[in-house]
Amino acid sequence: MSQSTAEIRNAFLGYFESKGHQSVASSPLVPGNDPTLLFTNAGMVQFKDVFLGMDQRPYTRATSSQRCVRAGGKHNDLENVGYTARHHTFFEMLGNFSFGDYFKREAISFAWEFLTEVVKLPKEKLWVTVFEEDDEAAEIWLKEIGVPADRLSRIGAKDNFWSMGDTGPCGPCTEIFYDHGEHIWGGPPGTPEEDGDRYIEIWNLVFMQFNRHADGTMEPLPKPSVDTGMGLERIAAILQGVHSNYEIDIFQALIKKTAEITGAKDLEDKSLRVVADHIRSCSFLIADGVMPSNEGRGYVLRRIIRRAVRHGHKLGATETFFYKLVAELVNQMGEAYPELTKQQAIVEKMLKLEEEQFAKTLDRGLTILDDALTQLEGKTIPGELVFKLYDTYGFPADLTADIARERDLVIDQDGFEAAMQAQRERAQKANSFGTDYNDAIKVEHQTRFLGYNVTDSKAKIVEIFKQGESVASLAQGEEGIIILGETPFYAESGGQVGDTGEIQFTGGAFVVTDTQKSGNAFLHHGYMCGAKLSVGEDITAVVDEQKRKAIALNHSVTHLLHSALRHTLGDHIGQKGSLVDSEKLRFDFSHFEAMTMESIRQVDYLVNKAIRDNFEVITKVMNIEEAKASGAMALFGEKYDEMVRVVQMGDFSTELCGGTHAQRTGDIGFFKIISEGGIAAGVRRIEAVSGPAAIDFIHSLGEQIQQTLDLVKGDQFTIGAKVRQVIDRSKALEKELEQLKAKMASQAGADLIGQAIEIGGTRVVVAHLDGIEPKALRSSVDELKNKLQSGIVFLATASEGKVSLIAGVTKDLTAKVKAGELVNMVAMQVGGKGGGRPDMAQAGGTDAAALPDALKSVQPWLEQRL
Ligand code: ALA
Repeated sequence: MSQSTAEIRNAFLGYFESKGHQSVASSPLVPGNDPTLLFTNAGMVQFKDVFLGMDQRPYTRATSSQRCVRAGGKHNDLENVGYTARHHTFFEMLGNFSFGDYFKREAISFAWEFLTEVVKLPKEKLWVTVFEEDDEAAEIWLKEIGVPADRLSRIGAKDNFWSMGDTGPCGPCTEIFYDHGEHIWGGPPGTPEEDGDRYIEIWNLVFMQFNRHADGTMEPLPKPSVDTGMGLERIAAILQGVHSNYEIDIFQALIKKTAEITGAKDLEDKSLRVVADHIRSCSFLIADGVMPSNEGRGYVLRRIIRRAVRHGHKLGATETFFYKLVAELVNQMGEAYPELTKQQAIVEKMLKLEEEQFAKTLDRGLTILDDALTQLEGKTIPGELVFKLYDTYGFPADLTADIARERDLVIDQDGFEAAMQAQRERAQKANSFGTDYNDAIKVEHQTRFLGYNVTDSKAKIVEIFKQGESVASLAQGEEGIIILGETPFYAESGGQVGDTGEIQFTGGAFVVTDTQKSGNAFLHHGYMCGAKLSVGEDITAVVDEQKRKAIALNHSVTHLLHSALRHTLGDHIGQKGSLVDSEKLRFDFSHFEAMTMESIRQVDYLVNKAIRDNFEVITKVMNIEEAKASGAMALFGEKYDEMVRVVQMGDFSTELCGGTHAQRTGDIGFFKIISEGGIAAGVRRIEAVSGPAAIDFIHSLGEQIQQTLDLVKGDQFTIGAKVRQVIDRSKALEKELEQLKAKMASQAGADLIGQAIEIGGTRVVVAHLDGIEPKALRSSVDELKNKLQSGIVFLATASEGKVSLIAGVTKDLTAKVKAGELVNMVAMQVGGKGGGRPDMAQAGGTDAAALPDALKSVQPWLEQRL
């Protein structure tokens, strides 16, 4: 009955479609706009708001095969990967969902029917658990399905109450286990041997009933719902007659490829499993827009890549290897996940870059670790060493822990954390998943946005906040936040800044300095200019129209820029962030190298052409699937509702966007890129201006050119050559000046010969020369040594608080006096340190005021030696 993983995936989706479920595509690994979650870790994540009653879909039953990552965050499996038969960083979760439609009875019978009738698992191999308090589920299993009582266990909340994270939808669950047979050690769930590998959980059916809040309270959901999850790799292992997930078709293909690339001979090597697992999570994460970095999601990705690279080296890889597995992964999974195929080139490039960077320090770090381990007493690697490896050689702590585990050692996690703490305090807020200041206030209201059509409107004050507290009114001069039932003010989102303006009332105005969103409420931040303003009062909300217009132009032109970049550089360009305000626009995008002058010019040209084409900017609200099918560009990390707004500018640009825009592209007038540069590995930033600001920019460029022309007495055709002439001439003069100074110095040096004193029969020159370049001191010393033939020279100069010292000793005297020691003796008195050869040594210092006394110490010092 062997079925390929792809066939099982299709059979599952097909079965639930036949039961009236809408088949929904996997959502990306980065959950849209959900800061509570690092990665999509279950099929229900994309439906979170539907369970909570905050999002409505045209269907009440859904099914999906969801790509998931469990590494970092609440559900973290990274450390176990490679060591167990079924832990993965990346896996696929098959699921069926009911949004207030069916509940326990149907959920259980669908699961049973699929397992026993569709994929035909023998009933006597299955075992079920229910939440200990859930009699209803137990009854259904025992009475309606007919599971024998000795194959059902009641389990506590730890395993049978499922939550998405610390907050969010949750509820009791029932789980189905498969018995892999007596030849494998382990006991049924709930027994002391349950951790063995014999009874394996394959399917979890969650009866979603509550929304858990941050304070631990559980609020009942609007409607009881169902969320299920079955690990595709686990069911595939059973149906393919193997015990370990790593023996299924997809993994075998990846393991063989890894062995081939690294030269590994033993196909049972655990490192092969690690690499085969990690290529899946890393490739999908990059395809979904995550870039390796030192914080948040990017750091989890970096850790997984580095762990894979280290295991690759253990297997025998001698050069960059990890990226070479992407093609095989695309072979195996590209059909089910077309986004992976589309991003293949960028995934390969990114992995290669990251591996090359880490490979530089890997061997060195391993040597340091090996050396330290030979002297290790006990079984714990000290926290400082773990930190040093992290800080200097880029070893994530869990990589060191992984190496430790292989040698039967552990790391001192607390010591490492302590060492990190100091570092962390210095680093600016390293985690982008912090709270935003709107979280400080809890707003229940929904604000209706009117600003697509108007910039002023009448409304009522719904709520007022002062210093985070809800208040009845604001007085003259006070700062606060105002919430309206409906507003023309745009709240910051999608890169577009919040509107500013005024909330006018009979007694004056509340000046709006920014507009932000919290949930579905718009928060007008600002201060009072006028007498008292109270909740319930009628007002007129007036957006600063000039500013809004400038913002709209910059937003529309950002869409044109995005499209022009794709035309010029290729489809791998993905938007990584943007900022649109009234003055300028900033656009971050994925690309691997600096743009050339030609490509910048080409982008400028294409954008300006689209402006001249004067396309109408058309916005339509449509279904998300329809929007994607129309080729609309969706953005990474954004969460889209079922209905989305699509902004289209002729055939040049179509994007999902909730922002405010110009009416026609011609309104933009003119566009100009100001700068292009790298901001992180694989991410570039363009800054640009449009409309009047672009004209101003060109004018200021023109003025600067004119000023330059006046200075060099050229015209616009010869400006380059003229400036070059000036630079060449100044270089020549500098050289001449340097030569002159050296000559003067040696002259001055030569003159010093008359000042020589005698110490113990040796001629000694000690002098403080002012206005001499430190570089020139050296030739003076040479000159003097030549003249003296036998003697000692010590010269010093100070300028702008910096001291330069030099000592020269003729060869015949170096047995008695070392120039290095002499110069160091003086340097220490002027706040410096120095050294050099016995016959010539230099030093610097910072305390010019101490120089005269320091020079006086030369004579007694020499008297002791000569
Ligand atoms: N969301 C449930 C799980 O992940 C089905 O186990």
